[in-house]
Amino acid sequence: MQEKKLWGGRFSENTDEFVEEFTESVSFDKELAIYDIQGSIAHAKMLGKQGIIPDEDAKKIIEGLKEIEKEILEGRFKWERALEDVHMNIEKALTDKIGPTGGKLHTGRSRNDQVVTAFRLYLKDQINHILDLLGDLMSALLEKSKEYIDVIMPAYTHLQRAQPIRASHYFLAYLEMFSRDRDRFLDNLKRVDMLPLGSGAVAGVDFPIDRDFVAKELGFSQIMRNSIDATSSRDFALEFLSASAICMANMSRFCEDMIIYSSTEFSFVELPDKLTTGSSIMPQKKNPDVLELIRGKTGRVYGNLVSLLTTVKGLPLAYNRDLQEDKEPVFDTVKTIKGSLIGIKKIVEGLKFREDITYKSAGGFALATDLANYLAEKGIPFRQAHHIVGSIVGYLISQGRDLESVTLEELKRFSDTFEEDVLNLLKPEVVADRRKSFGGTAREQILKQIEYWEDRLKYRKI
Ligand code: ARG
Repeated sequence: MQEKKLWGGRFSENTDEFVEEFTESVSFDKELAIYDIQGSIAHAKMLGKQGIIPDEDAKKIIEGLKEIEKEILEGRFKWERALEDVHMNIEKALTDKIGPTGGKLHTGRSRNDQVVTAFRLYLKDQINHILDLLGDLMSALLEKSKEYIDVIMPAYTHLQRAQPIRASHYFLAYLEMFSRDRDRFLDNLKRVDMLPLGSGAVAGVDFPIDRDFVAKELGFSQIMRNSIDATSSRDFALEFLSASAICMANMSRFCEDMIIYSSTEFSFVELPDKLTTGSSIMPQKKNPDVLELIRGKTGRVYGNLVSLLTTVKGLPLAYNRDLQEDKEPVFDTVKTIKGSLIGIKKIVEGLKFREDITYKSAGGFALATDLANYLAEKGIPFRQAHHIVGSIVGYLISQGRDLESVTLEELKRFSDTFEEDVLNLLKPEVVADRRKSFGGTAREQILKQIEYWEDRLKYRKI
């Protein structure tokens, strides 16, 4: 018999060193320690209450677990690789501490329902944290859009100057995206918030357990109905990874914008010194490393999603050891997304637009659509108006001139529909404020968007 292992009864030789090293998970799943203890305490309470084990044994177990928790939090706990995972490390420590009574904790439970219970408790906590960070980021974007209501910048399509917008409009666009990211996590939470414990290894439990009690103790709002599903499904984690991948994509786009906008060529944005780094050989440089790293780390989060999708795709029901591979992608994603959300929020708060430059870039040919619309309003079919303005643009470019330099006389040469009032149009803020359609960039529309988000964010009605 193998003495070292909790499951050593049927084995006649010791585990190969290689197997021990290859199969262990405690080096990373110790991240679940406090959640495992939470689950075990609820389970022990239930065993005592149901008379499955004597009440005093349950009390002893709970006290022992609390001491172990303290040791872990204070960094005094000694993790042992030979004990494979976080669950068996804790169970062994319990038996060492309180004697054979510790062995009663695992009554009516399997590691298969135990591990996924701890994992779900962990993920619930983490998602709540991420929801808060997303809320903070949304508030920072709202503040920026209030501050920048009168800053005019060009909007781009194909990374070519397209039309003038209010800078608030730009920030509010990201606010909308991050609010949907938040909704996705909120929705994911419903499916993480389900109790698997009480499912046993696969087929359920033969002791008179009380799953309702355990669910209440642990704060799960639902109980998983099917023990096979409960022990072997990881779609709740896949959903989390997918919501994270999408959120990272949105963050990465913002980073890319800021990297471009802060380049010398654009000079739209000044990033705060404290959030950038210098170059070891080029003294003039101020590098947007935080933005670049968020953009770069988006790759690993996508990888984490693909990794777990691939792990589960060929798995026969129910639990297989492959599922131990569910944890690292999730832990890595949690760490990455939390760091990225904090980083982006700091950037949003600290960045400054160079209004003179964005204003200037929003003028010129970015006003060409409005010149065509002017003609269309006066009855010229839009296609024809587009053509006339195209010719004007071509004419000015060939002379190395800007749209603002055109005179009424010149415009009349292309169409006699142009009148004096057209010259007022050649200002970006005037053009922006004509876009009064719902969701458009006119000041009055932006104010409506700001009002909407102020109301929702004030009471975190998000
Ligand atoms: N460390 C394992 C995991 O993460 C725990 C469950 C092991 N179950 C088993 N039957 N070997 O999935």
